[in-house]
Amino acid sequence: MFEWTAFEWIENILFYAALYVLLWNAWFLTVSKGIPNIRTAPAIRKKMADFVREDIAQKKKDKYTIIDMGAGNGDLSRYMARTFPEAHVIGVEIDKIAYWKCCFYKKLLGYKNLTYRNESFHYTSLKEADAIVMFLSWLLMNDIRATLEKKLSKNTLITSNKFPIGGDWVPEHKLDVKTLYFHQKSLYVYHSK
Ligand SMILES: C[S@@+](CC[C@H](N)C(=O)[O-])C[C@H]1O[C@@H](n2cnc3c(N)ncnc32)[C@H](O)[C@@H]1O
Repeated sequence: MFEWTAFEWIENILFYAALYVLLWNAWFLTVSKGIPNIRTAPAIRKKMADFVREDIAQKKKDKYTIIDMGAGNGDLSRYMARTFPEAHVIGVEIDKIAYWKCCFYKKLLGYKNLTYRNESFHYTSLKEADAIVMFLSWLLMNDIRATLEKKLSKNTLITSNKFPIGGDWVPEHKLDVKTLYFHQKSLYVYHSK
């Protein structure tokens, strides 16, 4: 069908590979705001849930709210909603396509205690959060920290996959977690002051 020489094959493959990388990076920087849409490893979300469970038992609130900052395709927020049916889970996601996926799965699977917001966590309300779960970015952590400091109520539990909050925030726990995802190994836990 194609009358290409071996050299032309290699040239074409390299061209399309480079185009793919370029488009992926453009998507990554513009739509996902520099944070790739990768889900939290199951072993880490289980550990996150252990801290949330402990926090729910301590706070003894009628309505406990968990916010997933940067919900991606919704795996973590759905897991939290399943694990804590008595809590309200809110996923905040800036990317429209990822947000639509979240809404689609929520509807398909019939979660009643889960809502999504298609907006930036820098501009949404976080004051109702009793717990924040997040898997974001080391590079953007200065801005994320400023948002947490400005918007969180006191004594909000924060569990951060992989990336410490930094600045003056000293983690109450730093867990090394064995996962099948080679790039995810640590969980940082805090309460806001
Ligand atoms: C690494 S994924 C995490 C997905 C999910 N929370 C989990 O841990 O399984 C991070 C997500 O944050 C989203 N994101 C990046 N900047 C954001 C912002 N300012 N506001 C809301 N979402 C944002 C990205 O689009 C991406 O889908």
